[in-house]
Amino acid sequence: MDLHLDLDAAEGLRSGLEQALRAAVRSGRLATGTRLPATRRLAEDLGLARGTVRAAYDQLIAEGYLAARQGAGTVVALASPAAPVPSTAPAVEQPRHDLRPGSGDASAFPVAAWLESARRALGSARADSFGYGDPRGRPELRAALAGYLGRARGVSAHPDSIVITNGYLQGLTLLAAIIGGTFAMEDPGVPMHREAIRRVGTRVVPLPVDDLGARTDLLSGRGVDAVEVTPAHQCPTGQTLHPERRRALLDWARSSGGLIVENDYDAEFRYDRKPVGALQGAAPDHVAYLGTTSKTLGPALRIGWMVLPPRLITPVADAKLHTDHHTEHLGQLTLADLITRHGYDRHIRISRQRYLRRRDQLRHHLAGLPITMTGIAAGLHALALLPPHGPTEADIRTAAHAHGLALGYLSERSELPSTRQGVIIGYGRPPDHAYTSALDALTATFAACFAR
Ligand SMILES: Cc1ncc(COP(=O)(O)O)c(C=O)c1O
Repeated sequence: MDLHLDLDAAEGLRSGLEQALRAAVRSGRLATGTRLPATRRLAEDLGLARGTVRAAYDQLIAEGYLAARQGAGTVVALASPAAPVPSTAPAVEQPRHDLRPGSGDASAFPVAAWLESARRALGSARADSFGYGDPRGRPELRAALAGYLGRARGVSAHPDSIVITNGYLQGLTLLAAIIGGTFAMEDPGVPMHREAIRRVGTRVVPLPVDDLGARTDLLSGRGVDAVEVTPAHQCPTGQTLHPERRRALLDWARSSGGLIVENDYDAEFRYDRKPVGALQGAAPDHVAYLGTTSKTLGPALRIGWMVLPPRLITPVADAKLHTDHHTEHLGQLTLADLITRHGYDRHIRISRQRYLRRRDQLRHHLAGLPITMTGIAAGLHALALLPPHGPTEADIRTAAHAHGLALGYLSERSELPSTRQGVIIGYGRPPDHAYTSALDALTATFAACFAR
């Protein structure tokens, strides 16, 4: 094992080494239990006599900084508080009940299936898997996805037109960096996505959403270069983009040459409505289709994909190369195995049943309240629209806080003046064992607000 020590040349050899070890332990850089190198090895590394190192270790053992453990060599013994790490990151308070939208149940990750695929994929991985590779990603995964997306989502995909990304967010940001100009983004939508593309210099204009989905009929003549939409399940309101709006969107792209960025983030989860095929299948030259494993498996993987129109394949691959070479290979190989052996479909089918049960429980709990539920036919969240003269989002937030409950709110998702008030309920997020108590907290929150 390597040990870095700042030796002061002005000190004697032994006392210099002792001081450096004491300082490393006191600062917390060497945590309690850390095993130190054997005296012979450290002596070689530092160019000292072995006896000098032995004597320094003995001195620190006598002082209580180190301890000699039978069979474990010399270890750090002093309980030193780790030095506080200065942080500018916002502290995230963990709510007792978490029904915020944006994630599925991370505890349901299919560990056994993933492990089995990882073992198989790694065991049979080609040697080039361990070197730099194609910026578009591993050919095994691109081939598996081309088959899966064609079959399950109606996407027209060839492995050569697919680029694997570190999640949806990276795909969107790469496109924004290449296209630049003006992006129309659904409003309400995802603030993080607007912010991310603003940071690469894109101008963002809001595209309002009504009961038929995004107002794609408003795109023409606005100088828009690209539009990002969630046609299968608008985030967060939950509509499927109305056929007229789909037509208007495709007409806009064909006549203006603008790009449609199709965000298919949660389309696998549909319950009591017919599956809605991807828009991309109808106009592959005009649509960049983006998907992700964040809802189906878990956001920790950071694996997503883009299916690109021919004109964008080289620019996107080049942008990906200059961002991070490519997405890491071993996860890609594992996912390719999971998809080709149908473990991915199996996991989605099981998850769909679980989320459907949760969705039905949610509906049951909120039955009878004067709220309008939308987006409940699909996805992992639902929107409860509040009545015009009833409690406000602020009222719900206060009551929810009192119950230790975190929720999402419609006004947080919008830059346009909001005319509607609503609560976004991420029923997919809690682990199974915590779901019923989260629903009880939700029911109590609504009961408190509507009883007034
Ligand atoms: C609308 C929407 N798009 C995409 C994603 C997934 O993004 P990523 O793949 O970067 O995790 C999410 C996840 O919460 C989402 O809500």
